[in-house]
Formats: sequence, C-alpha cells, structure tokens
Amino acid sequence: MGVTFPDIPLYRGWGAPVRTESTIRDLELVQGSVPRELNGTLYRCGPDRQYPPMTGDDIFIDGEGMVHMFRFEDGHVDYRSRWVRTERFVLQEKARRSLFGRYRNRYTNDPSVAGKSMGTANTNVVWNGKRLLVLKEDSLPIEVDPDTLDTRSPWDFDGAVRAVSLTAHPKQDWHTNELLTFSYQAKGDCTRDFAFYIADADGRIVHEMWFEMPYPGMVHDFAVTDTHVIVPFFPLITDLEVLKKGGPFYQWHPDKPSYYAVFPRRGRAEEIRWFRGPTVSAGHMMNAYNEGDRLHLDLALYQGNCFEFFPSADGSPYKPAPPQLTRLTFDLSGRSETPEMKLIVSTPDEMPRIDERWMGKPYRYGYMICRQPGARAGDIGMGAIGRIDHQTGELVTWAPGPDCGVQEPIFVPRRPGAPEGDGWLLVLVNRFAEMRSDLVVLDAQNLAEGPVATLRLPVRVRMTFHGCWVPESTARTGRYVA
Ligand SMILES: [Fe+2]
Repeated sequence: MGVTFPDIPLYRGWGAPVRTESTIRDLELVQGSVPRELNGTLYRCGPDRQYPPMTGDDIFIDGEGMVHMFRFEDGHVDYRSRWVRTERFVLQEKARRSLFGRYRNRYTNDPSVAGKSMGTANTNVVWNGKRLLVLKEDSLPIEVDPDTLDTRSPWDFDGAVRAVSLTAHPKQDWHTNELLTFSYQAKGDCTRDFAFYIADADGRIVHEMWFEMPYPGMVHDFAVTDTHVIVPFFPLITDLEVLKKGGPFYQWHPDKPSYYAVFPRRGRAEEIRWFRGPTVSAGHMMNAYNEGDRLHLDLALYQGNCFEFFPSADGSPYKPAPPQLTRLTFDLSGRSETPEMKLIVSTPDEMPRIDERWMGKPYRYGYMICRQPGARAGDIGMGAIGRIDHQTGELVTWAPGPDCGVQEPIFVPRRPGAPEGDGWLLVLVNRFAEMRSDLVVLDAQNLAEGPVATLRLPVRVRMTFHGCWVPESTARTGRYVA
C-alpha cells in the first residue's frame, strides 16, 4: 500500500504536498542587503499533508502543521522548517496513513483514534510567557522549542484553561505583554459556549469570562481596543446531525444575521453589549480602536460566505464575494444596535496586519495582500502587498511580478520607539514558475520601490497562513518592548 495523493486541484503545482523538513544555514542573498537592525526571528505556520486524505478530497485549511523560522542575526538569515508532532501526526506516522477523516468531523475518523486530539497546529505561531506556541482553533496550543522547533507538548496554561480549544488569532499586546485569547464551541463540537481569557506576561491566566454564543458558529478572529473586546459571529454554523452523517463542519446560513459581542477587556458576561448586522462574514481583522463612545473595527469583509468549501445549508450555490477592507463602527452610547458599515478600499484584500505596537489604538497604517494594480476586471487573485494609509486613503502596493504570489506580510519596527510604520515588512514570495520561495524585506515606508533584500530559498514554502516576529531581546527576556 503506497502513498499516492489524489489528483485534485489542491495538490497540483504549487499545492503539491512538500512533506520535507529543511535546515539551511545562511540563506543566499540575491539582491540588496539585510538591514543590520533586523535581529530576531520570523515564525510562520501552514498546513502540509502528511498522508493522503482518507476521503480522497481535501480543503486547503486542513493538513498537518509545518512551522517555518527565519532567524536574522548580523545580516545573516538561517532557515528551518519542522512538522509539529501533534498527537494526530504521531498516530498517523505510526500507522503510515491518515487516520482522521473530513475536516474536523470526528464521525469520519478511523475508529482506532476515537477520543484522540484532532488538532493539526497549522494556523499561527505566537509568543507569550517565554513560550513559542503553535495554534489551530480546534485544539489547545502546542509549545515548540523556539530554536530547534522541536515539539514540546500541548499548553493549557498550567491547567487554567478549561476550554477544549483556543483560537489561532489571539492578540499579543506589546505594551502589557498580555495575551488576549478565546475559545468558541468551548465545551466541544457544536456547543454554544464562548470563553475569553487573558494570560499575563508569564503565561498565567489572570482573567476568564464565559458566555453563550447566538449560534454554534465559527469565530476565526476577533479584535481588541485599549479598553474593549469585539467578538464577531458570522453564520457559518456547525450542526451535530450533519456531522453525524459525515457532512461538513460548517454550513453557511444566508438567512441568518451577523452578531457582535462588545465588552470591556476585564468585563463580565452581564456587561456584554450585543449588536446585530446583515449577513456578512470575515476571516481576519486588521485592528480596532476607540473614538469617544464609538469603537471602530477594520476587517477584510465579505458580503457573503468567506469560505467557498463550506456549503450553504439551504443548498443555494456559492456566491463569490471578494474581501474588502471595511470599517464597522459600534456606538456604545446606545443610539443603534446595528454597526455602521463603511468601505475603506474596494481593491480585494486579505490577511491584514499592522504595526503591532498600535494594536487597539488609533492607527494610521495597515498592511495586507491585495489584488495587483492592473489585474483583469473581476480577477480577485491577490498577488501584491499593499499598505493602506487611513489618514489619506492612499493604497501603495508592490508586486513581485508575473508568475508569483505573496504571503501575509509581517511588520517589524526599525527599532524600539520608532514611529508607527517605520520599519520593514517580511514577505514570503511564491515563485510559481521555479517552484521555490524567496523571503523579501521591504521598507514599509517605501513599499513601491521594491525589496531592500531578497533571500533565495532553494525550496518551496508551500503555504503559510500566519506568523509573528520575535525580537532577539524578546526571546531573551520574554517581553516585547513597544
Ligand atoms: Fe486566520
């Protein structure tokens, strides 16, 4: 019984499983020079199939987590990639085949893994309490060694987290060094429990709050301001009966509204203010902040279902709706229970990021992947990096050229105390024609001029979703300095 991957579009070309761990001392510099101020590590994470799926089909958000690290030191950059050896990975390695079936549907698993963790650790990497944590929203974080990427163990914050999972999009506050995080379906598949936690700089849970969600939906990301937390609920909903029949983990409900829970950072469930809006969805938030009684939330909003591979519950066909950077404004003075909605940029964009020192604060710059200028009308392929200036409305872009793609940009300040936006963007570039990757360093203030350094990888970084920058001083002291 050999290993044969099915011939599906997801696995063709760039999407072919890599299934390789790499170690490269000193990446080849093919253009420019690496700024000496870059001293630290870029971590990223994405899925890579260990074995062919049991079902013969797959969706791109499934697959075992592969962590990638780029360590910057005195102008040198070393690269390393390692699987996260989750319980699922180890069981499958032993069996030499997939044992877990359809995405998050435990009713489709091999009976031999009943009760085992389904977590893939394939979505994001964060740093908190001197720990490097790899995240997938269906399970608890997995701690890995920040130097070798060797897998340590699941991390439940010394037993303080009772929820069965934690989000892949917690917010690490560079000012307080707290990690704000949450769990949805927090007592198991299809439960309506939501848990919000704050861990301090040493990884101790110092605040916990539980409440009931309007429906057992997906909550992929949330946002925080200096004072408040905003949790969006979009109608991608889990139905236990559908799961038992082997169906998809989420179904889109075009007849249901979106809801938003807004509460103080250290609030109680009784203090939640509920807002309700039209049927929209979003994967990712850029930032949020207060302006008097109003909270602004900027996000890559879809006027419909953001996940094509999760079908409509009523059987209606998928309606493409490109993500567009949009501002939702919540009025806490009680004048309206519906957020105001204002388009910021019509150019399709995703994977929004910021200068993390401005998280939760009035901010000027946001970074994302976006459609290339001059792309064909209707083409939502996003092959460019963009910087939006919220003050002027200007969108500046850079694209690596034809036959290339880009992955989520990560901002690194030039130095502690540098003004907002003064620093670099670290971006993985997919060289489709050559089936390999580059890591480019862009000057965030001179994006359109192109990279200040291009580091050539002889290998392909298939796909990463998210990641973080850990300055060398942070790795040493356990603290970010804003
Ligand atoms: Fe995400």
